[in-house]
Amino acid sequence: MSQVSLHLQTDITPVHVAIIMDGNGRWAKKRMLPRTAGHKKGADAVRRVIESSVELGVTHLTLFGFSSENWQRPKEEVDALMGLLRYYLKNEVKRLHKEGVRIRFIGERDTLSDDIVHSIEEAENLTQNNKQLVLTVALSYGARAEIVHVTKCIAQKIKDGTLDIDQIDEDQLANELYTPY
Ligand code: IPE
Ligand code: MG
Repeated sequence: MSQVSLHLQTDITPVHVAIIMDGNGRWAKKRMLPRTAGHKKGADAVRRVIESSVELGVTHLTLFGFSSENWQRPKEEVDALMGLLRYYLKNEVKRLHKEGVRIRFIGERDTLSDDIVHSIEEAENLTQNNKQLVLTVALSYGARAEIVHVTKCIAQKIKDGTLDIDQIDEDQLANELYTPY
């Protein structure tokens, strides 16, 4: 991710680009730097990717930043990543808002610190009507965890008697996803 920016060699602009951020540690290792230096560089690349997405007219950009598995990394590394996240939430959101970027987050919020969840909610509320680019950031995200989340929500409705099994369809599922719109 450290060296990434978005260049398209086609006349057709994709509607949705999704990027799995990877390789920060290898980038740093090659240069005999700490892994955190690679993460900082990766965060700079995020800025470039967002800027070029806006310039190119991409309407949806999804960044897989920190997966639910990434919690297994050494505490110092997790702390450094959360520090970078805090920095970005504090310093970049206003700028993105000015550029018309709508920010939303997917993932298990209750695994994140309260202050981060608070900043995430603020960013989502502030930017909710922006139309230039929908930026979805996956944090503490796991696809299987999302399926578990959807299943529990639907099971709860059935238990409460507000939903019948026969009413389960694609729309019902879509309603319970992290991004129900
Ligand atoms: C991606 O880079 C950053 C995160 C997943 C948070 P890595 O940290 O996975 O870098 P490599 O794969 O060790 O090079
Ligand atoms: Mg990796």
